[in-house]
Amino acid sequence: MPENSNTMKILILGSGGREHAFAYKLIQSEKITEVYVAPGNAGTSETASNLDINPMDFIAVKSAVLEHQIQMVLVGPEAPLVEGIHDFFLADDQLQTIPVIGPKKDGALLEGSKDFSKEFMLRHGIPTAQYQSFTKETLEEGKLFLETLSPPYVLKADGLAAGKGVLILDSLEKAKTELEEMVSNQKFGDASSRVVIEEFLEGIELSVFVLTDGKSYKILPSAKDYKRIGEGDTGLNTGGMGAISPVPFADSKFLQKVEEQVVKPTINGLLIDGIDYRGFIFIGLMVANGNPKVIEYNVRMGDPETEVVLPRIQSDLLELFEGVAHQTLDEKEFSVTDQIATTVMVVSGGYPEAYTKGKVISGLETIQESIVFHAGTTNKDTSIITNGGRVMAITSFADSIEEALDTSYRSIDKIHFEKMNYRKDIGFDLTTTTKL
Ligand code: AMP
Ligand code: GLY
Repeated sequence: MPENSNTMKILILGSGGREHAFAYKLIQSEKITEVYVAPGNAGTSETASNLDINPMDFIAVKSAVLEHQIQMVLVGPEAPLVEGIHDFFLADDQLQTIPVIGPKKDGALLEGSKDFSKEFMLRHGIPTAQYQSFTKETLEEGKLFLETLSPPYVLKADGLAAGKGVLILDSLEKAKTELEEMVSNQKFGDASSRVVIEEFLEGIELSVFVLTDGKSYKILPSAKDYKRIGEGDTGLNTGGMGAISPVPFADSKFLQKVEEQVVKPTINGLLIDGIDYRGFIFIGLMVANGNPKVIEYNVRMGDPETEVVLPRIQSDLLELFEGVAHQTLDEKEFSVTDQIATTVMVVSGGYPEAYTKGKVISGLETIQESIVFHAGTTNKDTSIITNGGRVMAITSFADSIEEALDTSYRSIDKIHFEKMNYRKDIGFDLTTTTKL
């Protein structure tokens, strides 16, 4: 791809609110001629072209790239990265010159293996919780290790487990049983044949996002998401029920600490380890007494964090991606609005447990104050219907969290589908003065 070309056809892999937000932002680029999303949703079909392809089917992705003369691929979710889609492109004569935004298999291990990411942090002096890893063969040692810890006990499946592989347990007996279930009885399949047991960290959680070309980086706006289904952060974990950016208590002094203690050693660590990383790094942090510790790395953007982070970026996202592809990111302009963005996720009744799809969604056309990022939606005849647990994220801007949230909630009042649900308290912990 010539760096100065003025047209660009880009393919986004994925189907959630995150991918709709990427499409929304990329369409604003002066260079983009066409955005494709595979498989996409009803929202992406309005502004981009959806392709009915499973991102895990690399051969189908290749056919689409060649057929539509795609010049760049952005990978939304982690699974294709962990499975090696970037390596697949590099190994293919017809695809190897097409940049993929997202790490190769070696870098994707930061999310694909908790054990790898913990070793990485230890090796490069990045602050994180104390831990040890165990397998079926070392189950008894694992139980003894649990006895040395105080509750609550944190057990993590080593591999990808669709966000379900982390258990936090109060009882030692339960922790021992669950460890055995994970390593010996494959509670999370292959993903839990190795389990990381780690120290429980108290504190406040927030996320920092980095875009890197492997040499330089840009720190994107911070965000906080709300993972539990219930108000007051109660009930089952979900993919995320809402998000706010920036995180008000993450002031510039704190962010500088994160940059020095976490971001720089991470980028340098990748360089030292010979991992050529081109893409996003989503760093989950726990902060206690003003000091950050890394809970986890993800090798992609968060969802719904993307729905508040990207709309705040004023720079041309495609320019930044070209910087990633050509390792010229340090030359690219990067600016962010001071306005606050909030997003509230509207979900299907029953989610994150069983729910029904196919409900007709009405009122979307009346929303003018907010941006509607579709997640689990699809088109049926002339209607838009629900097609997943998380249905759409309603993003609004304002000078304060309260005003932005009021706007998101006013917009949600205009939307209707049977059994629709959403949290009415997003940001509840931030409107008072939270201190790190
Ligand atoms: P992870 O998939 O590693 O992000 O873990 C999921 C969630 O579990 C995190 O967002 C935290 O809320 C919680 N968590 C993970 N590790 C720890 C830890 N060591 N101490 C306290 N909470 C944790
Ligand atoms: N919102 C959390 C995630 O994307 O993993």
